[in-house]
Amino acid sequence: MHIIGFSAEGFRNLKHVQFSPDEKLNLIIGDNAQGKTNLLDAIWLMTGCKNFHGVKERHYLGFDAEFFRCACSFSDGRRIQEILCTLQRGQQKKKLISINGVENQKANALFELFHCVAFSPADLNLITGTPDKRRAFMDLCACQLHSGAVQHVSRANVLLAQRNACLQKALQKRLSGREITLFDEALAKEAVYVMQLRSEYVKHLAPLCGRLYGIITGGKESLILSYRNNLNATMSLSDPSTAMFIQEYQKMLAEHLEEDCRVGYTQKGIQRDDLQLTINGKSVQQFGSQGQKKSVALVLRLAQAHLYHEKQKRSPVVLLDDVMGELDEKRQKLLYETISDMQVFITLCNASALKLDQKAKLFHMQDGVLTG
Ligand SMILES: Nc1ncnc2c1ncn2[C@@H]1O[C@H](COP(=O)(O)OP(=O)(O)OP(=O)(O)O)[C@@H](O)[C@H]1O
Ligand SMILES: [Mg+2]
Repeated sequence: MHIIGFSAEGFRNLKHVQFSPDEKLNLIIGDNAQGKTNLLDAIWLMTGCKNFHGVKERHYLGFDAEFFRCACSFSDGRRIQEILCTLQRGQQKKKLISINGVENQKANALFELFHCVAFSPADLNLITGTPDKRRAFMDLCACQLHSGAVQHVSRANVLLAQRNACLQKALQKRLSGREITLFDEALAKEAVYVMQLRSEYVKHLAPLCGRLYGIITGGKESLILSYRNNLNATMSLSDPSTAMFIQEYQKMLAEHLEEDCRVGYTQKGIQRDDLQLTINGKSVQQFGSQGQKKSVALVLRLAQAHLYHEKQKRSPVVLLDDVMGELDEKRQKLLYETISDMQVFITLCNASALKLDQKAKLFHMQDGVLTG
């Protein structure tokens, strides 16, 4: 998958961006606060995913702009597709999406269409942050590999939110426990789907991360990933079927109903899952050094890109914002080897931070204007 043409205006400080990137390596060079990250955010907008810095869509509008307009044409390996995202100040709450000229498309349709893997210094949160960061990572990565999976993840979240809203009412004695269990069957079905999706993804991700981390540390340290799920841990059967999981999940919800009513939210389920990371048997979150945490975050992203390539038989578009300066030569080499077949966008203040001899297309960003 690679971008053939991209344009943006009115998006944050981007004034005039219209360019045809290289199929492989693109360097976006510019001083601080010129719009480099904004450009990668504009590309990320095409994925239909939320902004990874937690920015709301309306904040994308340039301070003085009446609208923003970002357009992307890309090859998905089979054909060329066109995405257009616009937002009009004051008239719309959400951006309008058009795909191949067909208007009013949903963000989920974008998600199924255009896939990026984004590396940023904020990836450290995957390691040091709360478990929801790691759950979001597992969900996004796994959904990129399975068409339609994103609907199940969304539905599981909606059902859980509805159940929790009922539990809040129960807490105020306005609802009985029986009414809450009405959600349980549907919730259990979707939750088990998500659980199996995450579990399957980690099964493939774990050995890959172990191997990549082994390369970085010269085999001295062993990184192990494991998926933590509170249902898996309680299941005594060695090889349970999906139907059994659903049954057990419902049982778990029922067993904790009284307690849930007392606290006003669902305590057990996939919303408590985590991705556990250990180096030589010790938790990276708790005991890892800063350098180890950064390396593990890098390895997670590399493995995500690699796995996507392997499973989808095509490559994602890779966005590297502000990460190159942080990496030593060995890590940069591993990075290039892993993503060498992919279209890559790298932002930099200074091209000398790069230790590579690959041919690249250079772009300069100054005050929201990109020149080639
Ligand atoms: N909605 C907006 N409208 C106009 N300008 C904005 C908006 N949001 C952010 N900016 C400005 O965009 C500028 C460029 O931001 P960006 O993060 O892209 O810089 P950068 O080139 O990545 O810099 P750095 O090298 O420091 O990371 C900032 O000065 C910021 O104030
Ligand atoms: Mg930046």
